[in-house]
Amino acid sequence: MTSLDWFWILHPALAVVLIYPLLGMVVRLAWQTRQRRVFKVKHPPVVGRDHSELARWLAGGVVLIVLLALSVVIATKASIGQFEGGVARAALLSLVLLGTVVSLVALWRCRDQRLRLAFAGITGGGVLGLGAQQEVWRQDHYWGGVAVTLLMLLSLAARQEILRDLRWRRLHITASVLAAFLFLAQGITGSRDLLEIPLSWQKPAIAACDFNLQQCPELALKQP
Ligand code: HEM
Ligand code: HEM
Repeated sequence: MTSLDWFWILHPALAVVLIYPLLGMVVRLAWQTRQRRVFKVKHPPVVGRDHSELARWLAGGVVLIVLLALSVVIATKASIGQFEGGVARAALLSLVLLGTVVSLVALWRCRDQRLRLAFAGITGGGVLGLGAQQEVWRQDHYWGGVAVTLLMLLSLAARQEILRDLRWRRLHITASVLAAFLFLAQGITGSRDLLEIPLSWQKPAIAACDFNLQQCPELALKQP
């Protein structure tokens, strides 16, 4: 594997090693929080706070691994010299990336309602802006990733309201059930993408294949 391939594997590896184990804990604590509140099951009183605390890390982590994937895709599509738009575009995109990360950190920390809304908007806008670049291959894995990111940002921004207001709690449950299915889908489409993306030294050979006929040159020659 070249260093380029290692960059490509960072996003899936972090998703598998960090995001999905965290998701398991967050979902279990969420279920316990609901059981405790609605069905009066005797779980420790901290399950709600633990859910919310771990979920903050989950939401932050999802945004970061998505930004990582987008950065790798954009930065490695062409060699540095052939980067579309040159230094000016590279600098602008780096600024957008930096602004998005700063806004995520601010959203993570601040308590004021209007600021939370503003920072959630900026962070979501940054992800969509980077995702809209021509280098990004916008297939189902991309759209699922963007949708789950926005749902995580919604819950992160509304964490105070979810605690206090039953209507927000209901909206949070609906959004999170949808997010849970999307996480499942991301695991499947992401693994499929890993299977389809060749190592960097194999790319020229794979590019010669006909994707509609599902045939590669050498194999096509051998057929009767
Ligand atoms: C897939 C991920 C998630 C799932 C499945 C989920 C699900 C749930 C459920 C079922 C509840 C209990 C609702 C009730 O009591 O009726 C809950 C509560 C809550 N969730 Fe989430 N949630 C997720 C992610 C998040 C995120 C990203 C945040 C934001 C940081 C968050 C913040 C909260 C808060 C503050 C509560 C109230 C806790 C309490 O009552 O003490 N959740 N969630
Ligand atoms: C937490 C759930 C995940 C989210 C939100 C997510 C989101 C994204 C996004 C937005 C992209 C960039 C667009 C694209 O190239 O399609 C991407 C790329 C990619 N994802 Fe995921 N993904 C997740 C989990 C996974 C998993 C579990 C795998 C594989 C095991 C995976 C494999 C890939 C691959 C191979 C790419 C191409 C770019 C790269 O490797 O850096 N993803 N993902």
